[in-house]
Amino acid sequence: VQREMSSLPRVYITRQIPPEGLKILSESGQVQFDLWDSDDVPVPRKELLQKVKGVDALLCVLTEKIDAELLDAAGPNLRVLSTMSVGFDHLSLEELKKRSVTSDLLPLVYGVNGEYGTTEIWYGDMGNMVLLRYSCVVLSPSLPPVSMDELASQSDFLTVCCALTPETKDICNKDLFSKMKKTSIFINTSRGGVVHQEDLYEALSSGQIAGAGLDVTVPEPLPTSHPLFTLNNCVILPHIASASYTTRNAMSALAANNLLLGLKGQPMIKELKL
Ligand code: DGY
Repeated sequence: VQREMSSLPRVYITRQIPPEGLKILSESGQVQFDLWDSDDVPVPRKELLQKVKGVDALLCVLTEKIDAELLDAAGPNLRVLSTMSVGFDHLSLEELKKRSVTSDLLPLVYGVNGEYGTTEIWYGDMGNMVLLRYSCVVLSPSLPPVSMDELASQSDFLTVCCALTPETKDICNKDLFSKMKKTSIFINTSRGGVVHQEDLYEALSSGQIAGAGLDVTVPEPLPTSHPLFTLNNCVILPHIASASYTTRNAMSALAANNLLLGLKGQPMIKELKL
């Protein structure tokens, strides 16, 4: 028996996500969805607060702040949140935790596209993928992580892949840069907030480190008048490290599948444990 569209769980998608994810949702026959139909600009907050009213699930990207205001606007039907990102610093974990506990319905579950290491930063999923690409080595998660000091003083390239959390905010600061080799390159593809930008500017302009490659900054986009742009040993990209058709399609498929599993009350492929 074909279910009436109106009885299907409602989903709001905050961006024109790549086709693979939309196909999965459409072909599932499990949900009805509405989306912000633009690839260029994020959905205006006012429109978002309006659109999430009463939805069962939300598929968002990192430009949307998922906070108390948004969760209140969505209301008690919301039970699945899936973000098309590895990072989760746009989600207010405290609010989500509070609501999972108090929800009368299914617990609210959240899907993220992968996992950053947390305290074992250097042996997390993302760190391992970087190593695999550049040196064909995979570190076992059971290996003890090295200290930050050791990492700083021995690395020729220091690549940051951790999530931005209260614990990791500004961890790349003058203390770290001062321990790096003068010939070392600093790379950040995670979140701008893990770097103390003024300290990085100092380290680069004084020759404390040789260079930096940044895909992420605070704010984004970084104003062109920012001092970091005046340096010839700093390359800055506008947060595009994942912007290939293949990767973004895979991310949208994972976000869609996570969402469908969450609605069925099944474990997600990648689930953020609160
Ligand atoms: C992520 O997945 O968190 C990236 O920063 C977005 O491409």
